[in-house]
Amino acid sequence: MCLIIVKSIHHKNTEKIAKVFARILDARIKVPKEVNPIELQQHTLIGFGSGIYSGKHHNSILELVDNLPEAENHEVFIFSTDGAPRLFLKYDSSFMNDQIKKNHEILKEKLISKGYSVVAEFNCGGWNTNKFLKLFGGINKGRPNADDLKKAEEFAISLHKKLIKN
Ligand SMILES: Cc1cc2nc3c(=O)[nH]c(=O)nc-3n(C[C@H](O)[C@H](O)[C@H](O)COP(=O)(O)O)c2cc1C
Repeated sequence: MCLIIVKSIHHKNTEKIAKVFARILDARIKVPKEVNPIELQQHTLIGFGSGIYSGKHHNSILELVDNLPEAENHEVFIFSTDGAPRLFLKYDSSFMNDQIKKNHEILKEKLISKGYSVVAEFNCGGWNTNKFLKLFGGINKGRPNADDLKKAEEFAISLHKKLIKN
């Protein structure tokens, strides 16, 4: 019923989230290069996720979506982890929400322009040792943490309820 497509290259941060979704939604996880665009039609719900790299999802996710056939309101969800510091910013402050919206924008627009219906979005912090950050152990160390995984579980449970209802 559900397929999760994830590209998680930096610290497997997003893969941790994908595994929680897969457990709750009884879904298979694939990386973009394993996906045959035609097989997607056999799934009621598809999740697309990766870390955020230069303000957007990983190129392999964006390229996959470019190669998908047109859809008619096929339900999908988007997820990500990103390396912006949560230490001084409340997770759900408007700044973070705006930033997350921006980071998701390109993937979301591509999906919508193909006729997909984006029904939900999930994001949390991810350990980031990009460039000079590695010199002092990086930021968001330990993320996703237990609280993030719990939020991911709650998110997937609400999607699962929705799937059953339909
Ligand atoms: C090359 C590179 C570019 C990144 N660019 C951003 C960025 O633009 N914004 C951000 O918040 N985090 C950025 N990050 C941090 C990652 O989004 C973060 O560590 C994420 O959790 C990595 O997920 P992954 O382990 O699943 O690959 C970047 C990391 C790398 C390695």
